Amino acid sequence: MKAAICTKYGPPEVLQIQTVTKPSPKKNEVLIRVCYTNVTSGDIRIRGFIVPPSYWIPARMMLGIFKPRYPIIGTIFSGEIVEIGSNVKKFDIGDKVFGSKEHAGGTYAEYITIEEDKSIVNIPEGFSFKEAAAIVWGGGTSNYFLTQGNIKQGDEVMIYGASGSLGTAAVQIAKSLGATVTGVCSGANVDLVKSLGADKVIDYKKIDFTKQGIKYDVIFDSVGKSDIQGSINSLKHNGIYIHAVAAPSNELKIKVALRGTNKKYIGGTPTVNKAFIDKIKSLAEEGVLKPVIDREYTFEEIIEAHRYVEKGHKKGNVLIAFAEETAF
Ligand SMILES: NC(=O)c1ccc[n+]([C@@H]2O[C@H](COP(=O)([O-])OP(=O)(O)OC[C@H]3O[C@@H](n4cnc5c(N)ncnc54)[C@H](OP(=O)(O)O)[C@@H]3O)[C@@H](O)[C@H]2O)c1
Repeated sequence: MKAAICTKYGPPEVLQIQTVTKPSPKKNEVLIRVCYTNVTSGDIRIRGFIVPPSYWIPARMMLGIFKPRYPIIGTIFSGEIVEIGSNVKKFDIGDKVFGSKEHAGGTYAEYITIEEDKSIVNIPEGFSFKEAAAIVWGGGTSNYFLTQGNIKQGDEVMIYGASGSLGTAAVQIAKSLGATVTGVCSGANVDLVKSLGADKVIDYKKIDFTKQGIKYDVIFDSVGKSDIQGSINSLKHNGIYIHAVAAPSNELKIKVALRGTNKKYIGGTPTVNKAFIDKIKSLAEEGVLKPVIDREYTFEEIIEAHRYVEKGHKKGNVLIAFAEETAF
């Protein structure tokens, strides 16, 4: 089978499409023919080893000292089960599934194996493979953060970075929780963010929201680019600041800014497991989470896709198609 191999850390060109051995499922695993994967901001970080200096050593320990520990990167998949191990009970050949390979990666490949108890579920009712692959990364992560934000009907919630993968999902989820949502994005994305349900949209290139004197119950910085002190000043008494980019240097700044206040901080990383993917499926089937797809590339164009995502201005999600949906 064909796979994109990440031979070392570096620019998009370190990805090489090679022919590798097709995996065989173990007793408790299924073999999936991948239809779509999602080029996430996380894939870019791993491929380029783009991490904050304060996180350099732990990140090398986790991802691989000299090159990615798992040479086939990519975490998100949708596709069809084409073979099952002898002990598999929850899935069958022909099932249409989606999910995440978590830290092990491996989805930049025509076929993947995954244990049936891991992060894999049937695709949401009425969703295509393409749509399913577009809701996992941002949908799951934003749901994890916003659930902890304890959002109530009528809360004033700001989604900073509302046009990215996390941001587009966060606007939709916050709205479904009954919040009045303010999205922050550049002018080019105002219409997109409004179409997702935002009540107000602020163009960060024209307006500094921290100078407007408006206070929020929750501010979710989904891209890690908000002014930390200004954001915390813009929270109501007991307000919550959620920050998706959990570098130790950010956490330190946040903790200093929170001293002497009743405001709270939420950060960290979700545990990606079957329950995590199941929740994304429910949100999709309830009509809360709609896919936002910016571009679709062929597998052969994966370097081009990485160049685009690395610019940091995609709208929602960028997908790689291994095959036409009709081929399944
Ligand atoms: N904690 C965790 O477990 C976790 C999990 C997943 C992701 N993350 C992190 O979350 C961050 C966002 O991920 P993502 O996948 O959503 O990224 P993404 O889709 O690549 O984000 C792109 C978006 O960011 C917006 N943006 C860029 N600069 C901005 C600025 N200064 N102010 C406001 N918006 C700006 C862009 O909008 P414009 O073009 O309008 O500027 C673009 O739409 C990444 O750093 C990622 O590593 C953390």
